Amino acid sequence: MEINPTEISVKERYKLLSGSILPRPIAFVSTISKSGIPNLAPFSFFTGITSDPPTICFAPNRNSDGSKKDTLKNIEETGEFAVHVVSENIMEAMHKSAGGFPADVNEFTETGLTETPGRMIRVPRIKEAKICMECKSMQIVPVAESGFLVIGEVVHFYFADGIWQDGYINTEELNIIGRWSGYNYIKNGEVFQI
Ligand SMILES: Cc1cc2nc3c(=O)[nH]c(=O)nc-3n(C[C@H](O)[C@H](O)[C@H](O)COP(=O)(O)O)c2cc1C
Repeated sequence: MEINPTEISVKERYKLLSGSILPRPIAFVSTISKSGIPNLAPFSFFTGITSDPPTICFAPNRNSDGSKKDTLKNIEETGEFAVHVVSENIMEAMHKSAGGFPADVNEFTETGLTETPGRMIRVPRIKEAKICMECKSMQIVPVAESGFLVIGEVVHFYFADGIWQDGYINTEELNIIGRWSGYNYIKNGEVFQI
């Protein structure tokens, strides 16, 4: 099968892209609006870039009505965000937070997660998350008409007890969840060495 992406619908293109780039890590992002309302949302078009300084990026695309996602608007307003790793204990709350809540709704309250103050940024972090990377926005790159790439510098790492051990991350303790295609997720995949 050979497919020219310009000859299929946007929905079909999304299915080909998201079904081909697998599995994907999930950035569970907290932000805060200028008026102080916290927001949560997951993004699986997400990766690290370089480690000097530590930088990460994720892609909040426009909503189907063309508007910007609240996460992006908040980062444009404040220049800050926090990325949490999704472990099994917060996976349902993560999924719920993608529900498109209005901007004036506190998604910590909606998802039952606990807000706790950030160390280096004004954005609150998720207390139940086992890893949090507090970030300052470095660049927001518009991509065509529909997407954005947010690039951030990690200015502070938080690890829950038992996760950081002698300079390494205890990945077994993390119990991480990844995104599969559609609304499928993966956990506890087979780990092997090459
Ligand atoms: C696991 C998962 C991964 C997602 N990844 C992305 C993504 O990479 N980019 C994106 O624009 N939306 C993604 N979404 C959808 C957003 O989370 C959703 O539009 C959310 O409501 C945005 O919230 P906000 O308006 O509060 O920023 C994802 C949803 C889920 C459940």
